[in-house]
Amino acid sequence: MPQTLAAPGLTTGHAPFVEEARNRGDLYITQDYSLYSEENHEVWRQLYRRIRPRWERYANPHFLHGLEVLNLPPDRIPRHSEINDRLRPLTGFQARAVSGYVPVFLFFDCLHRREFPTTITIRPPEQIDYIPEPDIFHDLAGHVPMHTDPAFANTLVRFGDCAHTACELTAGIRDREERKRRLKNIVRALSRVFWFTVEFGLMRGPAGRPVAYGSGLLSSYGELQHAIESEEVQRSPAQLEWMIHQEASDEYQPLLFVVDSFDQLFDMVDRLERWMREGRLNYVAPGRSEIKDSDLEGFLNASYR
Ligand SMILES: [Fe+2]
Repeated sequence: MPQTLAAPGLTTGHAPFVEEARNRGDLYITQDYSLYSEENHEVWRQLYRRIRPRWERYANPHFLHGLEVLNLPPDRIPRHSEINDRLRPLTGFQARAVSGYVPVFLFFDCLHRREFPTTITIRPPEQIDYIPEPDIFHDLAGHVPMHTDPAFANTLVRFGDCAHTACELTAGIRDREERKRRLKNIVRALSRVFWFTVEFGLMRGPAGRPVAYGSGLLSSYGELQHAIESEEVQRSPAQLEWMIHQEASDEYQPLLFVVDSFDQLFDMVDRLERWMREGRLNYVAPGRSEIKDSDLEGFLNASYR
């Protein structure tokens, strides 16, 4: 009797297809949809079913609208192609499959080109509550619905521009160590502002209560409620200077920043670039986000006219 072979699965940490690509040095890959196992789809179903009522309660209206227009499936892992077909006409953004960690410059450069590096693996069932690295639920359900909003999408592009400005401003520094030190400070500032907005941002909601737009919150069943309801969280009006010098936490964030609108967010990233040009990001408080030397390579090697 012919045997049906079960799909090997695209489970985070146990996905030979992705690991082989990484070993070959291939960053950009395809989403081979046939490789998802039934268990992978079941994890997506559970994550979606559990968090949906919390989205209704705690997510910002732009995100809820994004879910609707993308028609994100609740019962199976989405195909990148179907999401991209609906996303492209709205803001020009595209999810692009990657094999794993994307070095910082490349990541921001993708945003500059309206591409969003997107993981294809999904967490194993035993890590349904928390997984340190991004998976497809974080990327496609947490990030991508926000990319349907033109003002938010334009802000992501401004983040990408900032990475290019960092290269341009440091390209002429002849002392390589000083150039690396300067870049490390600027990139730390850039990463922190991204962290406290795109990943963990809150926005003033319709009833005056904050709602979430950061994807780290929108993809976490536990932290989404905690961010809005808990007394243990400080919720401050967005202040660029504070964000730049504030260390990120790898636990639930004790401090979150609230914007009024995505236009305000766009202006903040604009100001960040101005401060970079004025030298105000040359000395930034140490601590997380820590920038590794290997992450500076992309900035050092980018060519500038
Ligand atoms: Fe993320």
